[in-house]
Amino acid sequence: MSTTSQNPIPVWSKLPKTSKSIFTTMSALAQETNAINLSQGYPDFDCAADLQELVTKYMGLGYNQYAPMAGVSRLLENIANKIDRLYNCELNPTEEITITAGATQAIYTAITSLIRENDEVIVFEPAYDSYVPTIQLSGGKPIYIRLSSPDFSIPWRDVKKLISGRTRMIIINTPHNPTGNVLTKKDYEELMTIVKNSNILLLFDEVYEHIVFDEHQHLSALSFPELRERSLVTFSFGKTFHNTGWKVGYCVAPPYLTKEFRKVHQFITFSVNTPAQYALADYLMDENNYKELSAFYQEKRDFFLDAIKDSRFQFTPAQGTYFQILDYSRISEANDLDFAVELTRKHKVASIPLSPFYSNQQDFTVLRFCFAKKRETLARAAEILNKC
Ligand SMILES: Cc1ncc(COP(=O)(O)O)c(C=O)c1O
Repeated sequence: MSTTSQNPIPVWSKLPKTSKSIFTTMSALAQETNAINLSQGYPDFDCAADLQELVTKYMGLGYNQYAPMAGVSRLLENIANKIDRLYNCELNPTEEITITAGATQAIYTAITSLIRENDEVIVFEPAYDSYVPTIQLSGGKPIYIRLSSPDFSIPWRDVKKLISGRTRMIIINTPHNPTGNVLTKKDYEELMTIVKNSNILLLFDEVYEHIVFDEHQHLSALSFPELRERSLVTFSFGKTFHNTGWKVGYCVAPPYLTKEFRKVHQFITFSVNTPAQYALADYLMDENNYKELSAFYQEKRDFFLDAIKDSRFQFTPAQGTYFQILDYSRISEANDLDFAVELTRKHKVASIPLSPFYSNQQDFTVLRFCFAKKRETLARAAEILNKC
């Protein structure tokens, strides 16, 4: 156990190896150096004015007190309808959907409500940064499996080898941050075979469900009844409606898992921002508000990649998400953290190195760039990257 001698009272950190996230670090550096910020995953354009007006409307109408613990019923119902239409999955909104303070809280709650001391949780690397600390806070043991190289697919043979009697959960993120990879039907079939007749729970992080490109399609775990019965699936309005700062998301799980989820949820936030929930409920009624998202971001991805096609960066176009990873090995021999810092300080473009997404900080000389940005931001960044 570690403690710091400067503290007036000893602190035995529950997360001794965790420090400020790389997203916070790189965003702060971008601000300090006045660099173009393609690091943290949020848009540099505003969310829709009519969505903002809906929040104002509901505040004016007096919807300013606590929402029900699980969420505003109109929002729960509209989410259930959307999921039924998109994923052919009928849900009971009052028993299977819980509104959360973003997907981060949904992930945290899902893990803390179901993972106990020494439970093993399979995590694929590179992994979004919230999974591992949350597992550790619950006393669980992360079991790391590295996505295959160079296509970042799931090495199912390794998964089979690492499953044990202690495996309690597998965490799957598709479309995948940071690689942009999207799971295929074959992946789901492999997973179904592996978990059949086991006590393994599945946590799906599907926050980029509406951002998929080219011939790729997002297949939700909710479309597969065999998986659905053992899955908690998390979503984020922030990613879909360009309002990451509102921090509203949700978790879908069968009643027996939702029951446990809500036992913890009620003591983390109790409930989530009321006027935002009413506004989102109305906004969700119009399918066009999310169905156009893939085309919207594909245009940005294509514009960015076309603009840097003659640079020395190497890439395979992202299949989904609003991130593109770029290999800089033809430009520098520096490690990814140093190169990301140099790119920010000297060239004024901030990105995210991939090594912090690996438990052993392995460096593959790649950086992640967020293209959820205005065309002019991407054009300015591309101009710089072309000169590197
Ligand atoms: C893979 C992944 N999961 C979860 C989240 C968190 O979503 P939210 O902002 O709704 O908490 C993010 C945000 O970047 C993400 O990339």
